[in-house]
Amino acid sequence: MDLQPTITQAFRSRFAAPPAFIIRAPGRVNIIGEHTDYNDGFVLPMAIDRAVWIALRPRRDRQVIVHSLDFDEAAEFSLDNLHKGKGWPEYIKGVAWAMQVERLKASPRGFVASAQPSGSARGVEGWEGVVTGDVPKGAGLSSSAALELAAARAFAAVSDLEWEPVKMARLGLKAEVEWVGLNCGIMDQMICAAAQAGHALFLDCRSLDFEQIPLPGGLSVAVLDTATRRGLVDSDYNERRAQCDAAARFFGVRALRDVDRQTFETRAGQLDPLTRRRARHVIRENERVSQAVAAMRRGDMERLGGLLDASHASLRDDFEVSSPALDSMVEIARQAAGCFGVRMTGAGFGGCAVALVRAEKVQEFSLHVAQEYTRQTGLTPSVYICQAAAGASLVPA
Ligand code: GLA
Repeated sequence: MDLQPTITQAFRSRFAAPPAFIIRAPGRVNIIGEHTDYNDGFVLPMAIDRAVWIALRPRRDRQVIVHSLDFDEAAEFSLDNLHKGKGWPEYIKGVAWAMQVERLKASPRGFVASAQPSGSARGVEGWEGVVTGDVPKGAGLSSSAALELAAARAFAAVSDLEWEPVKMARLGLKAEVEWVGLNCGIMDQMICAAAQAGHALFLDCRSLDFEQIPLPGGLSVAVLDTATRRGLVDSDYNERRAQCDAAARFFGVRALRDVDRQTFETRAGQLDPLTRRRARHVIRENERVSQAVAAMRRGDMERLGGLLDASHASLRDDFEVSSPALDSMVEIARQAAGCFGVRMTGAGFGGCAVALVRAEKVQEFSLHVAQEYTRQTGLTPSVYICQAAAGASLVPA
């Protein structure tokens, strides 16, 4: 949704002036490549047309003051005195902290890390503004990465720093891992920073090289929210990471990305069954991502859909991060007319599935899936038919 009028109006009524900058940073849905990012592997996410919006103006006193329309709450902090707290402001504070500890400063070449903290090398300037958004929170659509990258965009704007997507994604990740305390991979921050409208992002999570892959015409991306939630700052995610690391150690490689199918099959018999299943998911999922990119390029929707189906089975049976609600949703969508393929998306245990649907069938599909899901589970789902949006950007005020 275009929240520019809302955010502009909210800024005006609070500050009695127009904002100096308006920022939009999207949520994302991952088409395929799940639990591969922290294994240095491949992912194929797409930014969605649901976003975090910030309207702001600079402050020169090193204060940051942000009013959240969604939480009806204000946060204020000094860039010179950052303390950890709780809730949504931590994502903004974490980004401020990350930008400052990296001692980034503006230079004609963009961001440069300076050895000595001094003057403008303190990193960033303050600002005041309002924030809102329509990325559902806790649904696995990366509302937190969207807020981090929106904040990074805000600090970049008031501090006159060049926007370099990969560097900004790294800063967002640093905030998430070291400030917020969630040990996630870099997929969410990268797609939010680097997305191009109409495209999915084929990302190598080791080199951070990426390619923009055009979404084929006639294809709709439907996000199916199960209306079930599981917090991510959670032991299961870290446990999966630890199991993958153990498997990588077994194979004597830096990350599971470095194990090919043949090596896996030759030696897998020596692994304990659980670690073997975890590794098998990651190794095959990496293959599926490359195959999905090839299928997308050819416009081969049947093949692409089949890869999503296989990904779901693997996440359910080998990686064990699905849930009864997700499995029901996937099963219902799979049977519905027009569906090429469907799978759980994001970390799992709740949240959303993603379905690739024949465009002319998508309305009918959505209605049917929602009704049938309610009938079977008693829950009320949401269906978002998503367009592939651009990454975090300044919107002309
Ligand atoms: C969450 C994390 C990502 C990624 C996915 C699983 O969304 O934030 O880094 O690991 O789970 O693919």
